[in-house]
Amino acid sequence: MNPRINPSILAADFVNMQADLARIATADFAHVDVMDNHFVPNLTFGPQMVERIQATSPIPLDVHLMITDPDRWAPGYAELGAASVTFHLEAAADPVALARRLRSIGSRAGVAVKPGTAGDALYEILDEFDQILVMTVEPGFGGQSFMPEMMPKLRALREEATRRGSDVWLQVDGGISEATIAQAAEAGADTFVAGSAVYGADDIAAAVTGLRQRARA
Ligand code: DX5
Ligand code: ZN
Repeated sequence: MNPRINPSILAADFVNMQADLARIATADFAHVDVMDNHFVPNLTFGPQMVERIQATSPIPLDVHLMITDPDRWAPGYAELGAASVTFHLEAAADPVALARRLRSIGSRAGVAVKPGTAGDALYEILDEFDQILVMTVEPGFGGQSFMPEMMPKLRALREEATRRGSDVWLQVDGGISEATIAQAAEAGADTFVAGSAVYGADDIAAAVTGLRQRARA
C-alpha cells in the first residue's frame, strides 16, 4: 500500500495561505474543509477562496464539503478544477446522482459519513464513488481526538470493497497523527487527512514522511 497523506489546510494560517500551501508540496493532496455553519457549527470559506487555493496549490485538491445541500453546491467545486470532491451522505438528497455529476465534470467523487452514521448504506453503491471518507471525529473542528471506535466501520468497508473488487480509496479524517495512523491503516484506510499533526510540526516535510512511514508499518 502506498499511503496518501492529505494535509488539512484548516490548520494553516488563513492569511498566509499561499506560503502554507507551498509548505505541503511533498504531500499527495491538499485537504480543503468547506464548512457552512449549518451542516456543522463552524464556518470556513466557499468557492471563491477554493478557486484561489486551486490556482495556488502545488498539489491537487481534496475538497471536503461539510455543507447542507451538496446536490446544489458540490458540482461548482468540481468545475473549478478540484481533483476530488467529497460530500456528506447525511446531507445529500441523491448521493448517486451527485456522484455521477461530479465524475462527469471530471473530478473524483467522494462520500463521507459522520461517526454516528453506519457504513452499510454505502455497500450497494460503492462503485459510484472513488473515495469513502470515514470521519474519525465529529466534523467541524481540527485538533480533536481520534475515535478508535470507528475502526470496525472502516474494516467492514474495506472487506466489502475487497469482496466487490472495488478500488475505491478509503479515507480517514480527524485526529490522525503518528500515534494513531497505524491503527487506521491496519483497519483498511489508504488515504489520511492530517491537520494539526502536519501544520503543528516544525518540519512539515518530515511530518508528512513520518506519517507515510507509520501508515506503511
Ligand atoms: C474536521 C475536518 C478535518 C480537520 C482535521 O471537521 O474535516 O479535516 O481539519 O484536523 P485534525 O487533523 O487536527 O484532527
Ligand atoms: Zn476534513
